[in-house]
Amino acid sequence: MEYETNNWIWDGMYNHPHVFGGLMLTAALLGLSTSYFGGITVPQLPYLWSDSGIFHKKKCDRKHIRVYMDGCFDLMHYGHANALRQAKALGDELVVGVVSDEEIIANKGPPVLSMEERLALVSGLKWVDQVITNAPYEITEQFMGKLFSEHKIDYIIHGDDPCLLPDGTDAYALAKKAGRYKQIKRTEGVSSTDIVGRILASLKETDGKDQNGTSLQKSPESQPKSTHLSQFLPTSRRIVQFSNGKGPGPNARVVYIDGAFDLFHAGHVEILKNARQLGDFLLVGIHNDETVSEHRGKYPIMHLHERSLSVLGCRYVDEVIIGAPWEVTVDMITTFNISSVVHGTVSEYNFSLTGESDPYSVPKSMGIFKLLESPISITTTSVSQRIITNHDAYMKRNAKKNESEKKYYAQKTYVSGD
Ligand SMILES: *[C@@H]1O[C@H](CO)[C@@H](O)[C@H](O)[C@H]1NC(C)=O
Ligand SMILES: *[C@@H]1O[C@H](CO)[C@@H](O)[C@H](O)[C@H]1NC(C)=O
Ligand SMILES: *[C@@H]1O[C@H](CO)[C@@H](O)[C@H](O)[C@H]1NC(C)=O
Ligand SMILES: *[C@@H]1O[C@H](CO)[C@@H](O)[C@H](O)[C@H]1NC(C)=O
Repeated sequence: MEYETNNWIWDGMYNHPHVFGGLMLTAALLGLSTSYFGGITVPQLPYLWSDSGIFHKKKCDRKHIRVYMDGCFDLMHYGHANALRQAKALGDELVVGVVSDEEIIANKGPPVLSMEERLALVSGLKWVDQVITNAPYEITEQFMGKLFSEHKIDYIIHGDDPCLLPDGTDAYALAKKAGRYKQIKRTEGVSSTDIVGRILASLKETDGKDQNGTSLQKSPESQPKSTHLSQFLPTSRRIVQFSNGKGPGPNARVVYIDGAFDLFHAGHVEILKNARQLGDFLLVGIHNDETVSEHRGKYPIMHLHERSLSVLGCRYVDEVIIGAPWEVTVDMITTFNISSVVHGTVSEYNFSLTGESDPYSVPKSMGIFKLLESPISITTTSVSQRIITNHDAYMKRNAKKNESEKKYYAQKTYVSGD
């Protein structure tokens, strides 16, 4: 039903990348990072939804269902992405409210990522049509009225895990009372609390080691992998749900970019956006955990499958290679008909500083390598560093969350759905 509508619109965009899809995407993408921070809403796909649009005409007169979901989206992960994917499936257009820094501080403690960084992440998701900045933590009567009248929202969506205000009341009580509430299933296996825990644990492991990189680190074998334990169970269906399910069209210029994409952040979104603009199809190579460990001296915070989902959720990405080789080979370039290989200027790891061989020597010799200026300098390390710097505050915040998480898992029962 609704779901088909969505698919159909996206199909249109991907089937005619040169005619309208490409144009609209580019226009929407270009407008993304510069113009929306001050404003309230972000019409990211400006022409897609307008009444006069080519796409709209073909549809019947049925009203578009607009759904709203909010969140802090601090340390955004594929669990958030999956929640928004499910929310989108309950309607035609998804409007996302990003809670303000002040409200997060008041309700949960200091956020790790700034409003701008959280916005970049949310806007970069392929299921998000519009963003409302500085949303309140609690859906008040006044804000709900604004959602219904100003933003033409039909339903307010939230996961099946309880969202309580500091006084213990349900943050969605009003929406439920108004009969405009719909629930989705919580995504298992990951939470921001869990990620902070992993970062703090990885700090313990490398405590006292120098910052120079591989040389002084413990060998991968001696690293306790147990701290990287995740409850995520990668299923093939989840990957399919996140995929576009389309290869490059005829004559498409395929752009390739690779990396770890650990703790998927605003810097990743921006570089993927720029990479996508260099061609018609963006193929992203994701290094497996062992490859990352071998070259960086430490395991990534997020597992290969978790990192793959985060990248796949990004609207600029067409396809990923789950476990890409470290070196870009002639065979790969031929197999995928890669027309350019790109790499950002800001990177977690610089092979030329450790005297390793250049993984891009093949594309360089073919003249298809391009160094892309990274638009912002945030890295996985700098995100981790913020958490480590505010160690005490996050430990406290985490201990509090830890309790409620434990309770949730203890009482957990099977819930059907996606
Ligand atoms: C780290 O690298 C710097 C500069 O390359 C060097 O001076 C320093 O001694 C290194 N630190 C350790 C602990 O090896
Ligand atoms: C391979 O990519 C080039 C662009 O780099 C394109 O012109 C060509 O049509 C592609 N080949 C196929 C078989 O799609
Ligand atoms: C890696 O380091 C070299 C030497 O300092 C520098 O010229 C180069 O731009 C760096 N590359 C990246 C991708 O940061
Ligand atoms: C959270 O709980 C886990 C296991 O129950 C424990 O190992 C960890 O230290 C706790 N974290 C904090 C910050 O209390």
